[in-house]
Formats: sequence, C-alpha cells, structure tokens
Amino acid sequence: METKIFQTDQINQAAALLRQGELVAFPTETVYGLGANALLPEAVKQVFAVKGRPSDNPLIVHVADFLMTQEFVESYHPLTEKIVQNFWPGPLTLIFSIKKGSLSPIVTGGLSTAAFRMPDNKKTLSLIEKTGAPLVGPSANTSGKPSPTTALHVFHDLKGKIAGILDDGATQIGVESTVLDLSGEVPTILRPGAVTKEKLEEVLGIEVPLDKHLVKESETPKAPGMKYKHYSPDVPVLMIKPGDWEKAIAWANTNGKTVGLLATPKIADSYPSADRFVFEEDSIEAATRGLFSGLRALDEAKQSDVIFAEVFPEDHLGLAYMNRLKKAAAQKYFTEK
Ligand code: TXA
Ligand code: MG
Repeated sequence: METKIFQTDQINQAAALLRQGELVAFPTETVYGLGANALLPEAVKQVFAVKGRPSDNPLIVHVADFLMTQEFVESYHPLTEKIVQNFWPGPLTLIFSIKKGSLSPIVTGGLSTAAFRMPDNKKTLSLIEKTGAPLVGPSANTSGKPSPTTALHVFHDLKGKIAGILDDGATQIGVESTVLDLSGEVPTILRPGAVTKEKLEEVLGIEVPLDKHLVKESETPKAPGMKYKHYSPDVPVLMIKPGDWEKAIAWANTNGKTVGLLATPKIADSYPSADRFVFEEDSIEAATRGLFSGLRALDEAKQSDVIFAEVFPEDHLGLAYMNRLKKAAAQKYFTEK
C-alpha cells in the first residue's frame, strides 16, 4: 500500500479515506496519532495490527468538541465542566464511564469506561469534523518505539502499512497527553503529561493524586498501556544526574564507549566531542519537545554504544519528561561502579 503524505489543504482526501475505514495518521499538539474511524470496528482492529499493540490496551477517542462525547458517556464527574473549560482543546485525556454498547469493545478493551480527548490542533479538529465521526488514535509509532513527533517519524515506522499521514510539522509538546481518570469519585492522574498535577490542582482547588503505580513501581497501573515496556531505543540509555556528568564521561572514555548525548545546551556545550542531540534551549519545555525526537535520532544513527540523557526534577512538566525517560532508560541511572 502506498502511504500518502497529505498537506493541510488536503484534509478532504484524508477524511474520505477515514470514512472508508482506512487508517490515516494525524497531528496533535502532543505526538502524532494513528487515526481510524472509532465507529468502524474493522478499521480499529487494523490499528492494533499495524502497531503491533496488545489488544487489551484501550484507545483514546478523539473528538472535535465536548458535545461529541455525549453520545457515549453514561455519567460525567461533577468537575467535568470546569476541567473541560480550562483544558480542552489540549493535552488532557479524560476517562468516563460509558453507555453500554455505545463503543466497540475493540476500542475500550472491553472496559466499562473510555478515554476521550479534544486535541489542540485545528487541522485535526477539522479532520474529525469532515470524517463525521470520532477518531481513535494511539501514538502512530510501532509499539516499543518512541512516539512520533513529526510526519517523517510516522512514515519511518508505518510506511506501506497505512493509507496516509496528515502532515502539520513538528508537534509542540513532544510527549503524550495527561490521562485523568474521572470515572471514580477522586480525579486521578493515570499518566503524567503537559497538563500537570500542579495546574490541575490550581484550577480545581483540590488535591489530584497520581495513580499508585506512578508513586510505587511495584503497583499495577490502572491505565493498561502504562504497564507495557515503552519508548525503548535499541542503544541503551543511562540517565545522568546533574552532578554526575564529569564522572560519567570519564567512565565512558576509560571503557572505550562512544557516547550519544541527549541534553540541553548548557550541558552539551561542556562535552563537545560526543555524538549528540541538543535540545533547543535550557528548559524543561524544550527537553520534553525534543526527547522522543532525540532518542530516535541517536538510536538510528547507531553511532554510540550508550546514550547519556539529562534528568530534570520530577515536578510540573518534569514529571512527564522523567516518566518517559525512565521507561526509555529501563529505570537505569549512571552510578559509579
Ligand atoms: O497525546 C496523546 O494522548 C496521544 C495523541 C495521539 O492523542 N495518544 C496516545 O494514545 O498517547 P495511546 O493509545 O498511546 O495512550 C492511551 C493511554 C494508554 O495508556 C491506555 O491504556 C489509556 O490511555 N487508556 C485508554 N482508555 C482507558 C480506560 N478506559 N481506562 C484507563 N486507561 C485508559
Ligand atoms: Mg503510545
């Protein structure tokens, strides 16, 4: 199958394919999604096949507005209006209990709840409207690879397997949306993202807990997707704490290891010899935006024996960055042997 790259003035063609049950990847502010018409179970099945995704991992239903959720949702949490007004469109996925039979079990993984999100990308909102149905959309990568932040990343992973990709340049945030469970009494964060715990708490005026697996590694996550090995490049990744760069580089030199550096300019400028992916600025926002792209670039270059990646404090956006980086690094920090 030829995978067509659609420019943003070709949304009608992309929507026509989705209506016919074909798969089209779409841009969002977080990462690119692998789109299929959420109301066509055969199309949704293809999403799992193409990604190599376990079938018990439910998908996010992407909507063009809040109204679109009403056909499916059984009951809303009392804080829903406030949350939606403040954060939609945006990088926040909401879990609600749904009306029985309103969505195929292929979408929900057979759960009585489902995930909904209104992405902050005008082209994709228009694509959903023109398709006339919500779109499921897991990240448009092969399972186990970093999520794609450009159309080229999607093409690299899925060319020949999907009908098209709607190209809208690089994504702005760089990691997947925050997943907030609103199906119980206490709104709970199942996956950290750019709508941070701190922002949610400020707007809602209550404490918003993290799912227990985010606090303690031995606990089972409530979002099925959080239990799978994720985002792992072939080249091993080691996380480097702020005071450890000198020692880590010395260790690599002593042991004849070629290092791929994934860091902000502040750090990278001190180690000019290494194979590198340097974030655009010295900020957690720039680091988050570049994380997956950098992991992919260093991994594909195959020039290094090990990737050294910068760590950030685990609060605000740093919680999301570190959650993804720790998975890529299989939790491993550089420590002196
Ligand atoms: O930013 C994003 O969220 C991207 C873009 C494309 O929108 N999408 C994305 O989808 O990251 P995916 O499928 O890779 O992640 C969805 C997460 C998974 O961890 C899944 O287990 C969880 O949401 N999830 C979906 N439905 C759920 C449910 N009913 N209960 C708990 N977790 C759910
Ligand atoms: Mg994913």
